[in-house]
Amino acid sequence: MIEITNLSQAFEDNIVLSNLTLTVQEGQTTVIIGRSGAGKSVFLKCIVGILRPDSGSIKINGVEVTTLPEKEYNKIRKDIGMVFQGGALFDSLNVGENVSFFLDEFSNLDASVIKAKVSDSLALVGLKGIEKMMTAQLSGGMKKRVSLARVLCMEPRIILYDEPTTGVDPITADAINNLIVELSHKLKVTSIVVTHDMNSAYKIADSIAMFYHGQIIAQGTPDEIRQTNHPIVKQFIHGEAHGPITDGEQLVFGHAK
Ligand SMILES: Nc1ncnc2c1ncn2[C@@H]1O[C@H](COP(=O)(O)OP(=O)(O)OP(=O)(O)O)[C@@H](O)[C@H]1O
Ligand SMILES: [Mg+2]
Repeated sequence: MIEITNLSQAFEDNIVLSNLTLTVQEGQTTVIIGRSGAGKSVFLKCIVGILRPDSGSIKINGVEVTTLPEKEYNKIRKDIGMVFQGGALFDSLNVGENVSFFLDEFSNLDASVIKAKVSDSLALVGLKGIEKMMTAQLSGGMKKRVSLARVLCMEPRIILYDEPTTGVDPITADAINNLIVELSHKLKVTSIVVTHDMNSAYKIADSIAMFYHGQIIAQGTPDEIRQTNHPIVKQFIHGEAHGPITDGEQLVFGHAK
C-alpha cells in the first residue's frame, strides 16, 4: 500500500504539489489525470525518491520513505518499477543491456537467468528478439515498450507508469493497457498510471484521481468520473478548451488562476 499525506513540492515560487493526499491500496490501479504541468511526473518522482519532497509523508508498505537515507531507499526501490515518460534508456547500451540493467547491477542472478528474463519481458511487450538493437534505432513507441520491459524484468510489486501509451499506436496502446490490467489482476501489482488518454484510464483504473493546482480535486471509480458534475473535471475529460492555448493550467474557463 502507498499512503501519501500532505505532500508538497515547489520549485522556487512554482508551487507544484500542495498538501496532496492520496492512498493507493495494494493490488489496485490508480490513474492520475491532469493538465500538462499539473505535477503528475513530479509526483511519481517523489514516490521513487528521484525528488525529495519539501514536506509531507510517503509511506510505502508502512515505511516512511521521504526521510530515508539513499541506501535504505534502494532496498524499497527494488520493489518499485517506474516506466518513464521519455523511456529514459541508455543510448550507449543495446536493448538487451538496457532491459537487464538493474538486474545486472543489483541482483545475484546467473547471466543465463537474466538473459531469459530479458527475452520474456521483451516478448511481453511485443518486441521479441530485439536485444541487439541500439536505442537510436528504436521508434518512440518502441523505446517506451523497452522501458516497460526493463521494469517487468525486475518483477516489482509496485509499478509507476508515466504516460505508458502516449505516442504508441492505438493497437499497441490497447495491448499495453491489457498488460497493466493483467499484472494487476494476476500478480496483484500495485500501480499508479499517469495518462492523458481517458479511454485507457476508464479501462485500467480501479480509481481515477484528478490533479489540479497541486491537489486532488476529484477521485472516484471510472463510472463516477465519467458521470461527474464537477465542472473542471468535466471540462478536462471532454477536452474542451475555453480560450487560447495556455501554458500549463493557468487558464481554466478563461479565468486566470
Ligand atoms: N526538476 C525540476 N526543476 C524545476 N521545475 C520542475 C522540475 N521538474 C518539474 N518542474 C516543474 O514542475 C511542474 C510540473 O511538472 P511535471 O513534469 O510534473 O508536469 P506533468 O503534470 O507531468 O505534465 P505533462 O502532462 O506535460 O507530462 C512544471 O511547471 C515543471 O516546469
Ligand atoms: Mg509528465
